Amino acid sequence: MSFKTQIGTDLEEAIRWLTAGQCVAIPTETVYGLAANALDPAAAAVIFAVKNRPAFDPLIVHVLDLDEATAYAEELPPLLRRLAERFWPGPLTVLVPKKALIPDLITAGLPRVALRAPAHLLTRQLLARLPFPLAAPSANPFGYISPTTAQHVYDQLKDKIPYILDGGPCTIGVESAIVGMEDGALVVYRLGGLTVEAIEDAAQKRVVVRRHSVSNPIAPGLLTTHYAPRKRLLLWPSSDYWPIQAAPPKLGLLLFRCRERLPPHTRCFVLSQSGDLAEAAQNLFSALRALDSAEDVETIWAEQCPEIGLGRAINDRLRRAATAAE
Ligand code: TXA
Ligand code: MG
Repeated sequence: MSFKTQIGTDLEEAIRWLTAGQCVAIPTETVYGLAANALDPAAAAVIFAVKNRPAFDPLIVHVLDLDEATAYAEELPPLLRRLAERFWPGPLTVLVPKKALIPDLITAGLPRVALRAPAHLLTRQLLARLPFPLAAPSANPFGYISPTTAQHVYDQLKDKIPYILDGGPCTIGVESAIVGMEDGALVVYRLGGLTVEAIEDAAQKRVVVRRHSVSNPIAPGLLTTHYAPRKRLLLWPSSDYWPIQAAPPKLGLLLFRCRERLPPHTRCFVLSQSGDLAEAAQNLFSALRALDSAEDVETIWAEQCPEIGLGRAINDRLRRAATAAE
């Protein structure tokens, strides 16, 4: 189906399309989502078609709060409940056994459903007014960089969806952390906008961080080659040494913080002048998109952040972008 895609802040319009079983892009504090009625398999199927997403990759279900979550979770392990109480609404997704009410298409046939209460006010107003939860993956074509502005969504999904609810730039900028329980262990399946340190502090327990693999994409459904720009991206470890002589022509640099010696004639994006990780996360996907579409850039070198706090989620996205470019 083809649409004349509109961008706006009209909740009525969003409600109309969603109620009709169509997709609407919604703002969240992490990234923009491509939303549809999570209880209607036909509506969820539209998400897969618009994103060109393989059916084995399950969708996160967005709810207003913990109360609503209990309607879709067969069981809420006490530790996950405690985390949700502490961090919802916010960048935390919990994987919990699903009720039959959640269609198998949403979970790709897996026994658990991913639930999250997003913090963005406009989307919370939308959820409060809808009689169903919203399935929403990031609103990018499958495998590409996640969108953090309404314009990013428009650039890639125009004509494919009727409406983009514009909530301004995302304040966090990387996707939610996905957390679940396995044999009593607290497992982080995707590093995200809620840090491992914050999770461990609230849980009073160490977490296990799962590494992704391409060969086993749905355990629990996280592909290695995500967040990929189209250009070749190489990772540079965080250090003061830059091999300036080795700089290829048409080089674009993605730097974590400001530095003094840079290769000449390069396009350069600094994620945070002062080296602030929250600011860097906020700017990450915009900067990657800008370098990916810059005509004078053929190769991207990206500097990794310190491996702490949000730096872990940023480095995870950069590593996966680099893997995809290999
Ligand atoms: O911040 C976010 O989480 C954003 C915003 C829009 O809420 N959403 C997001 O969705 O990043 P998506 O689909 O791009 O990434 C969700 C990841 C996928 O890799 C998927 O495989 C995994 O979560 N996932 C979802 N449901 C799952 C399930 N039932 N079991 C295992 N993994 C699941
Ligand atoms: Mg995604």
